[in-house]
Amino acid sequence: MEHVIEMKDLKKSFGDKNVLNGISLSIPKGTIFGLLGPNGSGKTTTLRILSCLIEPTSGEVTILGHQISKHKEEIRKKIGCVTESPGVYDKLSVLDNLEFFAACYQIPKAKRASRIEFLLRQFDLWERRNDPAGRLSKGMKQKLSIICAILHDPEVLFLDEVTANLDPVSIRKLKDLIREWAASGKTIIMSSHILTEIDELCHEFAIIKGEVIRLTTPQKFREEWSTYNVILDVGADLQKSEQIIKEAKEVEAYKRVENQFHLRIADPETANPQLVKKLVAADVTVKYITPLSVSLEDSYLSLLDQEKEAI
Ligand SMILES: Nc1ncnc2c1ncn2[C@@H]1O[C@H](COP(=O)(O)OP(=O)(O)O)[C@@H](O)[C@H]1O
Ligand SMILES: [Mg+2]
Repeated sequence: MEHVIEMKDLKKSFGDKNVLNGISLSIPKGTIFGLLGPNGSGKTTTLRILSCLIEPTSGEVTILGHQISKHKEEIRKKIGCVTESPGVYDKLSVLDNLEFFAACYQIPKAKRASRIEFLLRQFDLWERRNDPAGRLSKGMKQKLSIICAILHDPEVLFLDEVTANLDPVSIRKLKDLIREWAASGKTIIMSSHILTEIDELCHEFAIIKGEVIRLTTPQKFREEWSTYNVILDVGADLQKSEQIIKEAKEVEAYKRVENQFHLRIADPETANPQLVKKLVAADVTVKYITPLSVSLEDSYLSLLDQEKEAI
């Protein structure tokens, strides 16, 4: 598999404070990768190193085949980053900000105007193009810094809490765009506190606390932390069903919740049909059998609780 980003034993200290204690991650092309962790866990620091804004204390990063310690200029041309504080110039107009960034990225003059107009329209900022950036609302400024980051159509994007300050409609649009970028082969690393965002967007994510404490996918993580994963509704046939469920080898654990059963089934895809067969053979009416999903937020908070106990 082609890894667009490779971090090897990345460490960072500020003075005598160790912030990153050895982060190693490999991220394949076209992935939306999430960075999750409590405040101060090193997400922004990691993204700033990847964006060539600060140096790691030790360790190496390779982005698109270039080592960050040797080829920052090459890397900078191919990446875009949206950091926590929008790096736009308040006194310059929206258009002038973009012209400035376009010149920095050496976007050919013939292409600049159309690219800028396309993006300003896509982010609903075209009407505000002549306003000084300082007069924009926080959310609009955030959109402007997103446009600045993607102006040169980078192959790799680093997004630090990118939906902060955006309204729900803009968030929805941005999520769709992030998915489109990934589908077209761009690789994205995003940090977020908003677990539904990680859940909806990310193919894979790491929970970090100075080091990687979990590397997983939203689905795997939810499954790992849910005691029950299947809901079974058998209408009125509760007692007969309970006897079958108790004896069925497919069911690892169960509990009755009002008129339903919550079941723990190791491999639902193969085991559910077998269980349904047994119930139907005993003349039970199976109304429905459906996955029981635990939210990513519940799973994440349980993991952090467990980590606390372990310390
Ligand atoms: N320039 C800096 N100087 C000193 N400490 C810093 C600096 N940047 C970040 N830190 C510290 O590093 C830790 C991790 O910060 P950060 O990467 O911003 O965390 P996160 O983005 O996960 O909330 C925090 O304790 C923060 O205070
Ligand atoms: Mg941060």
